[in-house]
Amino acid sequence: MGHVEAAPVVTNEEKDVSESLLGDKKVTVVFVLGGPGSGKGTQCANIVQNFGFTHLSAGDLLRAEIKSGSENGTMIQNMIKEGKIVPSEVTIKLLQRAMLESGNDKFLIDGFPRNEENRAAFENVTKITPEFVLFFDCSEEEMEKRLLNRNQGRDDDNIETIRKRFKVFVESSLPVVEYYESKGKVKKIDAAKPIPEVFEDVKAIFSSYGAKQAM
Ligand code: ADP
Ligand code: C5P
Ligand code: MG
Repeated sequence: MGHVEAAPVVTNEEKDVSESLLGDKKVTVVFVLGGPGSGKGTQCANIVQNFGFTHLSAGDLLRAEIKSGSENGTMIQNMIKEGKIVPSEVTIKLLQRAMLESGNDKFLIDGFPRNEENRAAFENVTKITPEFVLFFDCSEEEMEKRLLNRNQGRDDDNIETIRKRFKVFVESSLPVVEYYESKGKVKKIDAAKPIPEVFEDVKAIFSSYGAKQAM
């Protein structure tokens, strides 16, 4: 009997992404990290307007997946309610699909990677390493205040879930920031300041990095 090599298991979706996104053009990814309520979404909206990135919030994509009635919906909903981190496989598929659909080659990936598993899996699957990591530094006291005032009808913006999310942030997400710090990739922002002041600091980072400001 002849020896038959097992073909690597690559789904069509993954194949499409690696061919069309990674095959011939360079993809720029900036990870936007920070505690819950540190202002990631708010500042990403400003960056998009000024620097032509596509903003992909992992949390927004997961919430859209729940709304779409997907078979993973209930599992995702339960994990978000508990402040737990959804398995990377699910989140990375959503990110890949959104990257492909955007037609852009510059992405702000907000709220991801949230733990070491997210980080390693994304790197393995997409072969993308981030240009840099924008880290929003803010006290829990300030973040708690913001989350309790957010008023977006989120299941997880209640004090019980907020405490769980802070714990997960310290135990699982900060080590990812430390990992990138050890690679010299972290640009830290004082996110406790008012929104326009935070954006001034964010703008300085993107400008010095060479991102063109939109006219
Ligand atoms: P994240 O995406 O990091 O969870 P958001 O951008 O959703 O945070 O911000 C959380 C809440 O705090 C929102 O209601 C937002 O309007 C508010 N917010 C964001 N940045 C600031 C800031 N610098 N100062 C005060 N409030 C802020
Ligand atoms: O970033 P955001 O606050 O929108 O995330 C809300 C929730 O979505 C997180 O607390 C977590 O339950 C889930 N999430 C996740 N994995 C990510 C990002 C978000 O499981 N990478
Ligand atoms: Mg957000």
